[in-house]
This record gives sequence, structure tokens and C-alpha cells, in this order.
Amino acid sequence: AEALRVGIAGLGTVGASVARVLAEKAAELTRQCGREITVTAVSARDATRDRGIDLSAAKWFDDPVELARSADIDVFVELIGGEDGPARASVIAALEAGRHVVTANKALLSRHGVALAEIAEEKGILLNYEAAVAGGIPVIKTMREAMAGNTISRVFGILNGTCNYILTRMEAEGLSFEDCLKDAQRLGYAEADPTFDIEGNDTAHKLSILTSLAFGSRIAPDDIYLEGISNITQADIRAASELGYRIKLLGVALRTESGIEQRVHPTMVPTASVIAQVHGVTNAVAIETDILGELLLSGPGAGGNATASAVVGDIADIAKSRPGFQHGPVFGRPAKELQPYKKAR
Ligand code: NDP
Ligand code: HSE
Repeated sequence: AEALRVGIAGLGTVGASVARVLAEKAAELTRQCGREITVTAVSARDATRDRGIDLSAAKWFDDPVELARSADIDVFVELIGGEDGPARASVIAALEAGRHVVTANKALLSRHGVALAEIAEEKGILLNYEAAVAGGIPVIKTMREAMAGNTISRVFGILNGTCNYILTRMEAEGLSFEDCLKDAQRLGYAEADPTFDIEGNDTAHKLSILTSLAFGSRIAPDDIYLEGISNITQADIRAASELGYRIKLLGVALRTESGIEQRVHPTMVPTASVIAQVHGVTNAVAIETDILGELLLSGPGAGGNATASAVVGDIADIAKSRPGFQHGPVFGRPAKELQPYKKAR
């Protein structure tokens, strides 16, 4: 089979890691997919920056929209970030040009995911986004494919690596909030604007995607009670600890008789509970269903390698798919059939 030609837009923490993993694991990926995966085009803002990877064989594009439309690629990988701007414009351009899309951009999907899914489904192409929720944890495929037929009553968890890293180190090492945040940024965990992490918006973006998958509803990022961790002090953490609790930033979505409830806020969890044992950049997602019962997934939630693992998995799925094969719906049921969102009273 011919090689799968990949264009990567965004070569920051995630994009550079994806390019590196594709190069380092080229032989293994070829064996697994039955064809080669090659990076034929890339885009970022600064063409001169050394990113520690050899991209000389790939064509450079200043404009990600041009890359998205380029005849040199079969798959467009969006790793720029942001709910609008070049990320949204390039993803739309790629889908309209009939290119499969892989993205890690939860802000974009939370706001425009259903509209993008409609284009992908109409064209019979793939829009894969495993990395957008909980980094390396394969929660999207688990909920969308492996749990088909289950009726989900509740989904909740630790969905932001930066916040969990900050809270863990504040408690374990007595460090200040600001120092922990700086380290999370240095390690590539935080968003370009870390306010999205610490004020809970990033958790809300991810939660809104999980809510849609769980309940078959349209994505509703604005109907989320939102409280971040920027006001949490050492005194709060110590007080919780004295009472036998740990503070975690949780995202929670549940089905009630009157509709769906979604919330994101710091929560006191008993120190002996499983969720309290989730430390550092690790994320955890708990899903409660009628058939399966309770499922808990945990693993690395942010950072170059963890996120690249999910993005490369999405690219490999495309490499393994066959032309003419009708792909499953992006959000678990056809985008046009997602139910209107009904907020709990
Ligand atoms: P970075 O800020 O590290 O990288 C962003 C990249 O986008 C940079 O290479 C930048 O170019 C490029 N870029 C910005 N604007 C443009 C533009 N107009 N045209 C072309 N390229 C542009 O972000 P991350 O790698 O951390 O995140 C990327 C995406 O992945 C985001 O959606 C994020 O939410 C998501 N994500 C991140 C995770 C993480 O752990 N970091 C985990 C899961 C998802 P230049 O380098 O030249 O400045
Ligand atoms: N900033 C995000 C986090 C990246 O810390 O969880 C992973 O989505």
C-alpha cells in the first residue's frame, strides 16, 4: 500500500513530539499498519527555530490553511490550539478538501465539534481526537466504541494534568501555587494561556466532550458550573488534610430526571479513595453504566509523549482504514442526530 502522507500544523510541545515519535517508531508503525506513515508537510509560526527533529524532508508552510488544502497530504494533524483562528480555519479547510483530520484541540471541539463532525460525516472521512481529553488515556475510543450499548449515568474525573500536578506538589512539598504552575509550564503540561488550566476552562472543554459522548447530546460548554483552583491556598490543603481529605479539581457530568448536570470545581475527596491516589500529571476518568458497572481509567494526562501517544494512535487508525469504508460517527452517533442539550433544573 502507498504511504500515508501526514501534514502537521503546530510544532510545539505536542507537534514536535508527534513528529519525533513518528520518526523513531517508523518501522514498528509500518509493521502494524501495513503501510508507511510519512510526514510530508509541516507548519508553525517560526520557520527558523530548531525543534530538535529533522523535518528537512517535509514541505514547510507558513499558513496552516494552505497546508490543510495541500495535495501533498492525506491527513491533516492540527496541533496549534485555540477555539477559532488558524486552528478552526485549517481544520475546516482540511475537511472540505476531503483530508482526514486528527486534532488534540479540546477548545475547538468543545465549541465547534458538532459542526466539524457534520462535515466529516457527510464526506465519509475521519475526524479523530483521542488526545483532546485526558492526554494519553484512550477514553474517547473506550466510550465511543468499547462501551457501545451501555447507558451511562455519570462520568467524572481529574481531566487537567496541570491542576493535578500543582495540587499534588503543593500538598506533598509545601510549594507555592506560582512555583508549581511555572514548573507545569516548563514541562509542557500547561495551555499556551495557563488561565485555561487553573480557572477550570480546560477541564470544562474536556468534560463537555465526554458529556456528549456519554449522553448522546449536543456539546454544551457554556452550561457548566465553573470554579478553578487559583484561589486554593496551602491553608486550604492543610485543613482538608487534617479532616482526612485531599483537594482535587474534578469535572462531573450526570444524568438526572430533569436533564444533564455538568460542573467543574475543586472537590474534597477522602484521602483513602481511589481518586485521591491520582497524583501529579496523571488524569483519571470514572464512568458508571448499567451493563459494565464502574470503570476507572487513569494514566498520563498531559505532556509531549503522553499526548503524542494518543495522536499517533489516531493517525495509525487512519493508516489502517481502507478507502470506501464508511467510518463511524465522530461523537458516537451521527452529528445530526445528537439530542438537543437539556440542562438539569
Ligand atoms: P504549543 O504552544 O507548545 O505549540 C503550538 C504550536 O502552534 C507552535 O509550534 C506554534 O508555532 C504553532 N502555531 C501557533 N500559531 C500558529 C499559526 N498561526 N500558524 C501555524 N502554526 C502556529 O502548544 P501544545 O503543543 O502544548 O498544544 C497544541 C494543542 O494540543 C493545543 O490544542 C492543546 O490544547 C493540545 N493539547 C496539549 C497537551 C499538552 O500536554 N501540551 C495535551 C493535550 C492536548 P511556533 O512554535 O513557531 O511558535
Ligand atoms: N493543559 C492540559 C492539561 C493539557 O494540563 O491537562 C492536556 O490536555
